[in-house]
Amino acid sequence: MREDFETLARIGSTPEGGIGRPTFSDAHFAARKWFLARAEAAGLDTRVDAAGNHSAVLPTRHRDARVLVLGSHLDSVPGGGRYDGTLGVVAALHVLLAFKQAGTDLPFALEAIDFTDEEGTLVGLLGSEAFVGTLTVESLQTPRGGRDALMAGLRRAGLREERLLDARRDPRSLAGYLELHIEQGPRLEREGVQIGVVTTIVGSRSFRIVLRGRGGHAGTMPMDARRDAAVAAARVILRVQEIVISDFPSAVITVGDVRLEPGAFNVVPGVARLALEFRSQDDGELDAIESAVLARIRAEAEAHGIGLEVIPVARWQPSRLDPGVCDAIERAAVALGLTTIRLPSGAGHDAQSFAPVTPTGMIFVPSVGGVSHDPREYTAWGDVVNGLNVLIGTVDELARAD
Ligand code: HGY
Ligand code: MN
Ligand code: MN
Repeated sequence: MREDFETLARIGSTPEGGIGRPTFSDAHFAARKWFLARAEAAGLDTRVDAAGNHSAVLPTRHRDARVLVLGSHLDSVPGGGRYDGTLGVVAALHVLLAFKQAGTDLPFALEAIDFTDEEGTLVGLLGSEAFVGTLTVESLQTPRGGRDALMAGLRRAGLREERLLDARRDPRSLAGYLELHIEQGPRLEREGVQIGVVTTIVGSRSFRIVLRGRGGHAGTMPMDARRDAAVAAARVILRVQEIVISDFPSAVITVGDVRLEPGAFNVVPGVARLALEFRSQDDGELDAIESAVLARIRAEAEAHGIGLEVIPVARWQPSRLDPGVCDAIERAAVALGLTTIRLPSGAGHDAQSFAPVTPTGMIFVPSVGGVSHDPREYTAWGDVVNGLNVLIGTVDELARAD
């Protein structure tokens, strides 16, 4: 597994020691090609569905059996780390190899999947939502990465927008979904715990905010005549942070991108485009944050004569994971003598697509320093092995209970 992990970590590696594998980039295609070739070389069946999800399959002898899906994603954020997604896909593949080698008579087939566009270079959870049938036409109209990028990406991958939902599987054919993932936060390390049993995945909402001021000459436009869109953006970023820190202390809010137009030293920017997102474990709190933050942005724009456009981009409900699967993960970890805690996930995952349709669980392993979405992302190999063994043990637990 280590050899496979290191091989994958070289595909799309960056000089800073991380990974850059945006959806449908050459590096992403190369990683997916490696995954299929590795699975085929090991004698597993493989398939690619209409949403580009790449699978390795270990069939079962039992007729009309369901399939237990194990997965994660090989795409990354720009400037990402080596473990986010990759760990889960390599571990899923090695679970199939372990059961194939052992010749275990499982009551369900096993399918290891690399889902398309988990990170949202284009849409976000594109592959897993197509797989469970919840991908909507609306989410493809104003995708996070923009409609042009989505169309160009689908063309590059040989996929067709109108066929994406052909990837849908009947939920009755699923025995469940499991995902091994790095925690991407500091809790396991801080508490000295080896395995995280994920109870819920946060919900999130994202918006494009367009602020239209008045551009002009940076040298001749008097300061009191300006409606500087960069200043308006700065005010918005600070105000929305203040609101969440003071009124919603268990939530988070981020402006992850600011584009100024025209973007030159000697031009007062007339337009600022912000990528805004916020997250909470509670849908009611997401509603409260949305109304407080958007009201504040409107007030700021009005007070300074700035035009405002608010474009909703994505919204994901908080997801409760299956208590029975959480118990199975815990039993598997305890049987291996590993310590566990139950905790929520502040990051989104493909598992949140599955939670509404089939028993779903996630296993976390510690992230050193809680760092992720950054080349410094690191998990000790002993913790990776613990995670793989708990994943194998959980499959065993679910097989016995099936
Ligand atoms: O954004 C997230 O939380 C995940 O990494 N896609
Ligand atoms: Mn991620
Ligand atoms: Mn991830």
